[in-house]
Amino acid sequence: MAKGRFITFEGIDGAGKSTQVEVIHQTIVARGIEVVRTREPGGTPLSEKIRELLLTQSMEPSTETLLFFASRAEHIAKVIKPSVERGAWVLSDRFTDATYAYQVGGRGFPASKVEALEAWTQEGFGPDLTVLFDIDPEVAARRVAKARNLDRFEKESLDFFTRVRNAYLERARQNPDRFLIIDSMRDKETVSDELRRIFSTWD
Ligand code: TYD
Repeated sequence: MAKGRFITFEGIDGAGKSTQVEVIHQTIVARGIEVVRTREPGGTPLSEKIRELLLTQSMEPSTETLLFFASRAEHIAKVIKPSVERGAWVLSDRFTDATYAYQVGGRGFPASKVEALEAWTQEGFGPDLTVLFDIDPEVAARRVAKARNLDRFEKESLDFFTRVRNAYLERARQNPDRFLIIDSMRDKETVSDELRRIFSTWD
């Protein structure tokens, strides 16, 4: 059995990620490939409990970062690695780039500490491909305000999301072979069409 793939989806809140991940999911399934759809924080029963804490409780930046990695350790061991090993393609709504973007870029948590936690938790394991949905934070904030009740992160300031966006773009510059940047300022259908085209053949 061929080894699977691990694909992650990133972007600031309101970038339209959820809708487009669904389009990518359907496109890959239509090729006859087994897809495992998951998310962070979350993805296992324990990690979903940690998610609930992360989205609702205020806490120290170090506690927050440790909880993201605690959730991630479970997720990798129980879901991501076993699925990729049996040949499935794992699609995860967010992964470690989000910690670099939100905790390091957004909150100013030290990158060196995240690098240490990443090395410890992942031991070199990471995504084959990361799709970054890039959007102006003001446009994203308008979309989020319209769509839903805001969680703890979504209530952050425009400055916060500008730092998060810039941190994502910097991660993409540092890892050009892994990242695919999608311009999410365009209308939904244009973005979906581009993604259908890419994922009907991407390997
Ligand atoms: P998300 O699932 O995208 O929220 P929603 O269900 O509202 O679309 O992610 C939850 C929040 O967690 C999001 O605001 C980003 C944040 N986050 C971090 O700050 N660091 C991380 O490492 C991860 C994975 C997420």
